[in-house]
Amino acid sequence: MMEYRVAIAGATGLVGQEFIKVLEQRNFPMSSIHLLASDRSAGKKLFVNHQEVEVKETVPESFKGIDIALFSAGAETSRHFSPIAAQSGAVVIDNSSAFRMHSEVPLVVPEINPEDIKWHNGIIANPNCSTIQMVVALYPLHKVNPIKRIVVDTYQAVSGTGSAAIEELTTQAKQVLNGQSTIPHVYPHQIAFNVLPEIDVFLDNGYTKEEWKLVEETRKIMHASDIAISATCVRVPVFTGHSEAIHIEFSRVMSPDEARHILAQAPGVKLLDDPIISLYPQPWSAASSDEVFVGRIRRDASHPNGLTMWVVTDNLRKGAALNAVQIAEEIVKRDWIHPEDKKWKNLGDY
Ligand SMILES: NC(=O)c1ccc[n+]([C@@H]2O[C@H](COP(=O)([O-])OP(=O)(O)OC[C@H]3O[C@@H](n4cnc5c(N)ncnc54)[C@H](OP(=O)(O)O)[C@@H]3O)[C@@H](O)[C@H]2O)c1
Repeated sequence: MMEYRVAIAGATGLVGQEFIKVLEQRNFPMSSIHLLASDRSAGKKLFVNHQEVEVKETVPESFKGIDIALFSAGAETSRHFSPIAAQSGAVVIDNSSAFRMHSEVPLVVPEINPEDIKWHNGIIANPNCSTIQMVVALYPLHKVNPIKRIVVDTYQAVSGTGSAAIEELTTQAKQVLNGQSTIPHVYPHQIAFNVLPEIDVFLDNGYTKEEWKLVEETRKIMHASDIAISATCVRVPVFTGHSEAIHIEFSRVMSPDEARHILAQAPGVKLLDDPIISLYPQPWSAASSDEVFVGRIRRDASHPNGLTMWVVTDNLRKGAALNAVQIAEEIVKRDWIHPEDKKWKNLGDY
């Protein structure tokens, strides 16, 4: 079996740590692993498969001889280093928003559009966490009964913002319980015992960038440019696990039972839907799991062709690291790593 030289850019971050776990748990065929971060972490030691590995500063030479580079070091770092890594011969799977809507970059959820990986030019984008869980739950239904409109409200955990946000929620929760005042650093307001309807920057149209990612990325992944989508993204004081209330209008009537039947067989989905025993997805129990959990499926009382559901997943796993490693597995399985007839286009000036 072929083994691959793998680099993780952003290895010391929340997603980077999850990359290491997922690669280990899925026995990804690695001949070597190269852990990269900023100069702040150079020299730090992390364990991979029980072996100590030193973290190195990310520099252009870091990607020489690398087959697969997993990036989770923020959009700026991706914008700078991903094209360098691709030109060095690596296939980059990028977790940031830097290249997701680039027309030469596939945006992939392996349960939905693995074939798109084939037209990559050295960079493949991993979608936004809130988009991934929504499309994994909706695409199997869309294939049977095309979706016309989606209204989604998200309840997003602080781990979606990175390690500094975990620290902020922990500190503030203690301060509030001790009757002390809080000073926000990561978010514009206190997050402990609060909810904030602001994720990423505000756009001219009144939506936030996070909300607009759900609109654009969903259409690109599902190859469905005409689905109408509206989103409200909300940060909640949960450590891990994003939740979404999704309201869907189909082309024709779909009963809750039909949706349950389809989703019970859908890849990556687990149904938790029995209101009688209060069985429904929750972020606390979804954390550290791989599935996208779906429940509360019911008719949407406001539209004859409508359904409403509640969807939860671990944002660091299926929402980030797991999806990216699944993309790497597809590349390996289909031998799309070094297609002989292919020379990467330079995407560096995007
Ligand atoms: N958290 C999620 O749920 C999630 C989901 C999907 C996508 N993402 C994306 O994944 C990326 C990382 O998220 P995270 O949650 O892991 O953040 P994080 O915990 O803050 O970690 C950031 C990582 O990036 C590294 N880094 C920062 N500046 C760098 C630079 N100039 N050069 C090289 N490495 C640098 C950091 O290294 P140091 O330790 O040396 O500072 C650290 O390893 C972001 O682009 C984010 O949008 C996150």
